[in-house]
Amino acid sequence: MAIDFELNGEKLSLDIDPAMPLLWAIREIAGLTGTKYGCGKALCGACTVHINGQPMRSCILPTSAAEGVKVTTIEGLTKDGNHPVQVAWRELNVAQCGYCQSGQIMSAVDLLNRIPNPTDADIDEAMSGNICRCGTYTRIRKAIHRAAGDQS
Ligand code: FES
Ligand code: FES
Repeated sequence: MAIDFELNGEKLSLDIDPAMPLLWAIREIAGLTGTKYGCGKALCGACTVHINGQPMRSCILPTSAAEGVKVTTIEGLTKDGNHPVQVAWRELNVAQCGYCQSGQIMSAVDLLNRIPNPTDADIDEAMSGNICRCGTYTRIRKAIHRAAGDQS
């Protein structure tokens, strides 16, 4: 069964098992490996992508749910990797092992789309579903403030 959707601005038609998790389609078929597999149970946030602008856990989403929607992954945020959140992440050396970071960035971008100047409490609430085993939470919070325009 063909499933048609847009991935980072490109139209895609995949003839696959509709029950295949969207994460698999993104990584194994489309070849975009920036989105990571962590828990596979919607608990860690490593697989976060945007579906029509909303953050979703792609590990539990069947690809059939992507029919007709716009999917954005970390690779599609900008063409050059210079989204303000990515710039802030680099400036503050947020990543440690890096495994969780694309999911963290996708959640941070969603937060700033909704709340351009978030408080620490806003950040903690919005990012609470994204787990980092390396404990980069302090730098994540700082980078979100930086991307919001706070240069401290
Ligand atoms: S891999 Fe999807 S939430 Fe953990
Ligand atoms: S940077 Fe290693 S898990 Fe987050």
